[in-house]
Amino acid sequence: MANRRGEAEAEIIDAISVITTKRDGGELTDAQIDWVIDRYTHGAGSGAGGPDVGGAGSGAGGRVVDEQMSALLMAIFLRGMNRREISRWTQAMIDSGRRMDFSGLRRGGRAMVTVDKHSTGGVGDKITLPLAPLVASFGVAVPQLSGRGLGHTGGTLDKLESISGWRADISAADMGEQLERVGAVVCAAGGGLAPADRRLYALRDVTGTVESIPLVASSIMSKKIAEGTGALVLDVKFGSGAFLKSEAQSRELAETMVWLGHAAGVATTALLTDMNTPLGRTAGNALEVAESVEVLAGGGPDDVVELTLALAREMLDAAGLTDADPAKHLADGTAMDTWRAMIAAQGGDPDAPLPRARHTETVRATESGIVTRLDAMAVGVGAWRLGAGRAVPGEAVQAEAGITLHAKPGDRVTAGDRLFTLHTRTPERLGAARAALTTAVGIGDSAAQRRPLVVDRVTVDS
Ligand code: URA
Repeated sequence: MANRRGEAEAEIIDAISVITTKRDGGELTDAQIDWVIDRYTHGAGSGAGGPDVGGAGSGAGGRVVDEQMSALLMAIFLRGMNRREISRWTQAMIDSGRRMDFSGLRRGGRAMVTVDKHSTGGVGDKITLPLAPLVASFGVAVPQLSGRGLGHTGGTLDKLESISGWRADISAADMGEQLERVGAVVCAAGGGLAPADRRLYALRDVTGTVESIPLVASSIMSKKIAEGTGALVLDVKFGSGAFLKSEAQSRELAETMVWLGHAAGVATTALLTDMNTPLGRTAGNALEVAESVEVLAGGGPDDVVELTLALAREMLDAAGLTDADPAKHLADGTAMDTWRAMIAAQGGDPDAPLPRARHTETVRATESGIVTRLDAMAVGVGAWRLGAGRAVPGEAVQAEAGITLHAKPGDRVTAGDRLFTLHTRTPERLGAARAALTTAVGIGDSAAQRRPLVVDRVTVDS
């Protein structure tokens, strides 16, 4: 903005004008976005969002308090943001913390390419476990900063913590050393990465503002860009067990994230994948580790193998290894060797028996026919009720709890056949899990036409 003498005029910013701009359908300026994120994350001092002058962090004004940020988040939820606003919001969240840098990684005197994968989460989604060592077995560095589960979807760290001795918290120096030596690391993201997102996500969770494409895209991409990866492959899911149910919304999310990645200099592609049915034949931490090891041994369920290979090909392409054949490294044990090294490097014993539940119960089919439907959400809720997931952050989970799925869509069953085995340490949970599963399975005379698992590939040119 310039005054009549042509001098730049500082923008006057205060929390209320930022909120009302968005409430009334306006566009937020770059300075408003920088200011509001900075003052919410780091702002100190008395008073709620008093007027201030200038951009991020300047001036001695107040802070943006939860009530004001809640109002702004709801305004964004209802009014949306354009691409410039989303990109600036993402950058402001990245700037709220530190960035990691893997550009110095070397093996055999040569620079290593880093490629990361992120899934928007689903039921039975154990793909990171076979995928990270598989891609690393080609000499690519795969830094997977992962999270713990909340609600009906499991977290990658919870799954790996069912392996005796394995630990998620490692230092940045150990992470770099492991990437150079083994190639793959799966660990907890440190608190310094995009701290604004952590505060905003907690607030969104209690204000009904989670399912907003600008807010989801900026939340995921701020962490991934701050992580310092060279390339990124996204698995964006839709369907009953996914975070966004509709395919159209998931496509929009994928397009927004791919665009944000490229705008930040990270080569990003996305696969749009179906999460109406759980992946594989297990949901639950130790059960999913066992299934992942089957895939690494060259077996495992077809859908888990298919998605692992599709994502591996994307990641290897992004690393410039267009001729690499990931199926070969599953078949010949190369990926398994990297898995064992990856687990051992973080204190885990890859040969230790996995925890087994003291209590199991079988749920059987009451009619004969072909399985037409297996609802991912119902299975996710069932596994959660058995103790595999947590209702609030920080709660302990049962490593051994979960569900084995004996029949998947397309399978023929006879009345009395097993549909599910429920596993838990606490038998009082069995009833609630059974209740969650009562309408999970459809049985009919003929199978519905099978939809592809990978529905589309989204690139910056899509
Ligand atoms: N996962 C994230 O990291 N952020 C969101 O907003 C939603 C899912």
